[in-house]
Amino acid sequence: MRMYDVIKKKRDGFSLTKEEIDFFIKGYVDGTIPDYQASAFCMAVFYKGMTEEETANLTMAMANSGDTVDLSRFGTLTADKHSTGGVGDKTTLIVAPICASLGCVMAKMSGRGLGHTGGTIDKLESIEGFNTALSPEEFFSQVEKIGIAVVGQTGNLTPADKKLYALRDVTATVDSMPLIASSIMSKKLAAGSKNIVLDVKYGSGAFMKTPEDAEGLAKEMVKIGKACARNTTALITNMNRPLGNNIGNALEVQEALEVLNGEGPEDLKEVCLALATQLVSVTKNISAEAARRLTEDALYTKKALAKFKEWIVAQGSVTPDPVFKKADHSYEITAPCDGYILSADAEKIGVCAVILGAGREKKDDTIDMSAGIILNKKTGDKINKGDLLATLYSCNKSSFENAEKRFLEALEFSENEPPKEPLIYKVIK
Ligand code: URA
Repeated sequence: MRMYDVIKKKRDGFSLTKEEIDFFIKGYVDGTIPDYQASAFCMAVFYKGMTEEETANLTMAMANSGDTVDLSRFGTLTADKHSTGGVGDKTTLIVAPICASLGCVMAKMSGRGLGHTGGTIDKLESIEGFNTALSPEEFFSQVEKIGIAVVGQTGNLTPADKKLYALRDVTATVDSMPLIASSIMSKKLAAGSKNIVLDVKYGSGAFMKTPEDAEGLAKEMVKIGKACARNTTALITNMNRPLGNNIGNALEVQEALEVLNGEGPEDLKEVCLALATQLVSVTKNISAEAARRLTEDALYTKKALAKFKEWIVAQGSVTPDPVFKKADHSYEITAPCDGYILSADAEKIGVCAVILGAGREKKDDTIDMSAGIILNKKTGDKINKGDLLATLYSCNKSSFENAEKRFLEALEFSENEPPKEPLIYKVIK
């Protein structure tokens, strides 16, 4: 078989066989197929798409490209959630301890920030002492003791995704439905949990811009999960505006703690409760109503907060009540006019946070954990000229000028109050 012929076949719109897809993944991982052929393959898939069967075969080839985690010792209560990526999305920090406090086994691997979107592992590393690189023995022993551990993608898990994702990031082939579906589901299958809830985001800050595209992606991933004997469901959620008010690593952990203390912004709380309800319902095989009662109880009686503290201390935090270093500088952005905020482009606001130092512009950049944005006004809010819209935080004062420009470019104003958009668009089972 020749890679040239596989690329040409996809370029011309034909379906690939399982053998051809296996040949590509095996060759790309062992280095016999070079980046330039893999790039051409991804671009052909971007334009011509893949059938459900091809996507499933690509997912399985990627899932089996390296080690897989065996969680069978924890029985049927293993639970995982995955977001397709957003701005201000700190849901794992809240959903994982809620579910763990209710007996779900959260043995979880998470990612770092990517482009304009943040990553759970970077956020956790803003907690002094927190170790995101446990050895397999430490990982399993912590899960056995307290029912929760979250680590970065270590070792040889889905090496095909690691290589392909880095390649897609620089070849404009991230936002392809079959490539996203196979990337996410290969990691979920390799990570071993029996029950999976996918948070598929749509909108300006998401890779899928419309709810219809997000629904197509969700359906494809749910089908793959089920075909591999995982209880998989998806929530399609709104990312037309950042989730919550805080964006940036330490700022997001602080906001997650506010929610775990029964406070915090309503939109974040609502999405977290919806995700936790879904995950508890599928994992414990109980009705959504019963699961909602349990998750609300865990949140409002602070059972989930106690689990969060137990978790971070087990994973190295120097204290159960972390304090975060403040950014050296802050800068206030005020409203340029009277009216309402019509929209706030979440991707542009995510880029603004990256400019402040909260994300990486290049692969090896160091993150400023204190950098980010606190939003004082959000889409739909009434404003008067001069009102505080947001505060920017950074250790690099010279980033404020560019960040403010980008931030204001992200906003649209109107004289009339805009209609409210739903937070949860649909549940896909
Ligand atoms: N998240 C992933 O893990 N992979 C993608 O392709 C997109 C979002």
